[in-house]
Amino acid sequence: MKRIMITGALGQIGTELTLKLREIYGVENVLATDLRRPEEGNPVLDGPFETLDVMDHDKMLAIADSFKPDTMMHMAALLSATAEKNPVFAWNLNMGGLLNALEVARKLEMQFFTPSSIGAFGPNTPKDNTPQTTIQRPTTMYGVNKVAGELLCDYYHHHFGLDTRGVRFPGLISHVKEPGGGTTDYAVEIYFKAVREGKYASYIDKGTFMDMMFMDDAINAIIELMEAPADKLVDRNAFNVTAMSIDPEMVAASIRKFIPEFELTYEVDPVRQGIAESWPNSIDATEAKKQWGFNPKFDLDKMTEEMLTAIRAKEQK
Ligand code: SER
Repeated sequence: MKRIMITGALGQIGTELTLKLREIYGVENVLATDLRRPEEGNPVLDGPFETLDVMDHDKMLAIADSFKPDTMMHMAALLSATAEKNPVFAWNLNMGGLLNALEVARKLEMQFFTPSSIGAFGPNTPKDNTPQTTIQRPTTMYGVNKVAGELLCDYYHHHFGLDTRGVRFPGLISHVKEPGGGTTDYAVEIYFKAVREGKYASYIDKGTFMDMMFMDDAINAIIELMEAPADKLVDRNAFNVTAMSIDPEMVAASIRKFIPEFELTYEVDPVRQGIAESWPNSIDATEAKKQWGFNPKFDLDKMTEEMLTAIRAKEQK
């Protein structure tokens, strides 16, 4: 992995991924693409950037052909709650975009990464310690897209020999770029509200456990998986990864270690609550640890400290 093209580079993951990859592989070797050009001053513009709608296969191919990357990281997608509002558009964008990215990677013989999600599991998946290989019958459009995407990436590997790799991300917590349209986003919003208002009304109910991970660990996981020797990988698309299984009360208790007067109330949103309940409580990341050394560094309190410090610094600017 030396020269990388990223789609969805202005998203929650893409923004931090672009900056970290440029740090490691050199600014000129990482091409960021997204639907629109960001405002001047956005750090993603400090290196190569192209506007690209992932539905436009020909433009994607032309851009890749001219940049000559050896790796494609396809991050552009609609998240779970947004996909539920517009399922046909979600199918077209999530599946059409992925197919285009796979085709470009196949034509130019690139290594390939795309994220799957805990959303690829459903209500009849074992809820606790969910194994790497298990029942996957999700009930959301996002989940349907993610399972189909995992299978499609496996197909490109088996049929065309493409080096496709992926992880099933849990909720990702970050402070650089706020997420949009996910079910796990409460665990990001809660930190921003804690700093700004000292209180938060959660749309996810007390006692609803989901897996989460700090963005630094997520970015490292992508890089480590892509650098792992191919002969060590049995599973490929996609590996369970997680750093913690938490509910809103646990996040609030962690925040109170730093902001004792923090108040948590509930205004449960039935749609996102329903999605959360269809997902596992905690997934088992043993295979990722075994096959490529996945090793997250942030537990809940360490993440809380980092989030609160970073958000306070942002507020003071
Ligand atoms: N964070 C995502 C969502 O909530 C899960 O992959 O949609």
